[in-house]
Amino acid sequence: MPRIDVHNHFLPAIDDGCRTFEDSLTCVRTMMAHGYDRFFLTPHMGAKEFGTLTPALLRRAVARFRRRMAQEGVSAVFRAGGELRLSPRILEWNDRSAVPTYGGNTSYCLVDLWEPDWPPWADAAMAWLQERGLTVILAHPERMKCLQDDPGFIEVLARRGILFQGNFGPLGGSESDAIRLLAERFLRDGRYFLLGSDCHRPEHLPTRLAGLQRALELVGSATLETLTTTNAAQLWV
Ligand SMILES: [Fe+2]
Repeated sequence: MPRIDVHNHFLPAIDDGCRTFEDSLTCVRTMMAHGYDRFFLTPHMGAKEFGTLTPALLRRAVARFRRRMAQEGVSAVFRAGGELRLSPRILEWNDRSAVPTYGGNTSYCLVDLWEPDWPPWADAAMAWLQERGLTVILAHPERMKCLQDDPGFIEVLARRGILFQGNFGPLGGSESDAIRLLAERFLRDGRYFLLGSDCHRPEHLPTRLAGLQRALELVGSATLETLTTTNAAQLWV
């Protein structure tokens, strides 16, 4: 079954991902050669350093991207996603319309958090999202310092209904050995609901593809299919 990439920065010149459309083409074509035929485009959102990209602006950018990919003869399918930076500002929003969801039509949202610890406002922000009917998927927990210090904290988060998306990068050696080992542990323990590339640009491709291969070695093809196809298909509706 073809795979769905649930996390990447292939939309060009919009965040710290691909700089040009040619970079995007290289990334998409390489991923397609490794079994992917659907892509959620998930630029950073809600993070001060990346401006004020809204779900409406993202929809238009994805539509343009789709047209250009079709002109290049790319058969893959693209949908909007978004990687929402968790911050206290979320608590000031009036409603969930500013929250990017997978496909723009589901109740699943991808969030990241870059604090060294788990701040009290993170609980409030998670609750704010969940109280509005959203299922929160926390991106790359293996990269979070609070979980590196205390891997057992992931159980506390899981009990709150939070799902987890692991990155192929750490599994493929893009970061420290400690982060790789934590990613392997979470993968073996069945903590991940999804695995994604979080690929930003062509230079990232080798470690992401090595991570895909490593995941296959660690958990086998059936589990890998669950994490890259079956579960991802719940978001692709
Ligand atoms: Fe990302």
